[in-house]
Amino acid sequence: MQELRHVTSINDLSVDEIEAIFSLAQKYLRDLRDPHIAHRIARSIADARGSILACLFYEPSTRTRLSFETAMLRLGGKSISSADPATSSAAKGESLADTVRVASNYADVLVIRHPRDGAAKLAATYANVPIVNGGDGAHEHPTQTLCDLFTLLQEGKNLNKMNIVIQGDLKGSRTIHSFVYALARFGANIMLMPAKGMELPSHVDWRLRNELKCYTVPRARYEKDNASVDALYVTSNKPHQLSLISDIDVKVKKGIDAMYVTRFQKERWTEKSQDYPTIDSRFLKDRKYSKTSLLHPLPRVNELDIALDSDRRAAYFRQAAYGVPIRMALISLILGLDSERSLQRYSGGFRAADHFVYDGHASGIRCANKNCIVHDSAEGKYASNRFHVIDGHDPRLRCFYCETDVETFTVANKKTKHYDSDATQLRTAIAKHERDLVLFANAADAEAAGYSPPKRRRKAANA
Ligand code: NCD
Repeated sequence: MQELRHVTSINDLSVDEIEAIFSLAQKYLRDLRDPHIAHRIARSIADARGSILACLFYEPSTRTRLSFETAMLRLGGKSISSADPATSSAAKGESLADTVRVASNYADVLVIRHPRDGAAKLAATYANVPIVNGGDGAHEHPTQTLCDLFTLLQEGKNLNKMNIVIQGDLKGSRTIHSFVYALARFGANIMLMPAKGMELPSHVDWRLRNELKCYTVPRARYEKDNASVDALYVTSNKPHQLSLISDIDVKVKKGIDAMYVTRFQKERWTEKSQDYPTIDSRFLKDRKYSKTSLLHPLPRVNELDIALDSDRRAAYFRQAAYGVPIRMALISLILGLDSERSLQRYSGGFRAADHFVYDGHASGIRCANKNCIVHDSAEGKYASNRFHVIDGHDPRLRCFYCETDVETFTVANKKTKHYDSDATQLRTAIAKHERDLVLFANAADAEAAGYSPPKRRRKAANA
């Protein structure tokens, strides 16, 4: 049986696949659009006749659920939804894992939204049909990113080398986490403008720099023009310090192509927000914003002045409308409805699954993210203590579910009975003794389990 294709992260999709989704969405827009409103799909086809989409939503939603349902209806399929955990068996204490196993027998594709990071991945391990992540805690919201990128293209932007400012709650906004990975993969220059204390999580920053080869530009190089920008990430296929720097100077002078605004994610914080920035026409009056497309995943609260709605730069309602053709394209590719394009065969990009998965004994090592599904008292027992082993210069363990990294741990070897706290040894350990690998939270735990320090270190200690 062919492996099921789930979309729990934007990184589950290769660049080619994302482009295939865009080209199909474009085709739907061209063929089915409202004659009076270019971004609105107004007609239906019958391609998905006989197929059913189910939305299992454990958190509020307007756009994501309604546009998924609309997309399936426009494709000629049917949709069923469990939109409120208070009226489903979740209220009786049923786990996500059981619900997904049951719903897999009712529908052909399941869209999950859940307050816990990693919930979509957990669902994917139990489903017999494809799972699409409709937003899991603060982790990711990959289909929103597809809408965001598609909007930029529709607004005439070139993703490669575009200058984009991302503003607001960079920590709590799952839309931003999926978005920055994709922007980096498409080669954009990303300028971060976080609200106070709401910077990008450190593991997301680490992935941008280490896995997506982004370079941060020293503040001094851009702060004259962009005093409010906190960090500037540059993606370069052929990194060369000098050309990179001159490139930035040119790019910043060129102006800001897009600005992505988000609301304060109050449901993910215990504190209230203070001084949350507001974007209005005064902020955007600088010349460098004259051609800026304004994006927002919505809902907006107060961070984006409603007076901007009639501004030609405001693209956020079109962005929400593109949710329909984009999700039609995604469903079509997932269900294999389009004869030319399919997600059934994977063709490139990078996937978390490319990394070795460790699910052996990991004494004392737990995902560091308290909102991860593994820490949920009811759902956590359906998850195992699994990590992707990320090797390289600075090896780390990445939670299989929510993709938060554990940076310090001790690696031991069952055969040699030695441990090594120096994680750079991990790479060799993986290469040579994959099955003999055993992980501990620290050296003391390894010693308590009967492992001794590596020989070279003992020698050094005796000397
Ligand atoms: C976003 C979400 O749910 O993460 N909404 C959406 O799907 N468009 C953004 C948000 O809630 O702020």
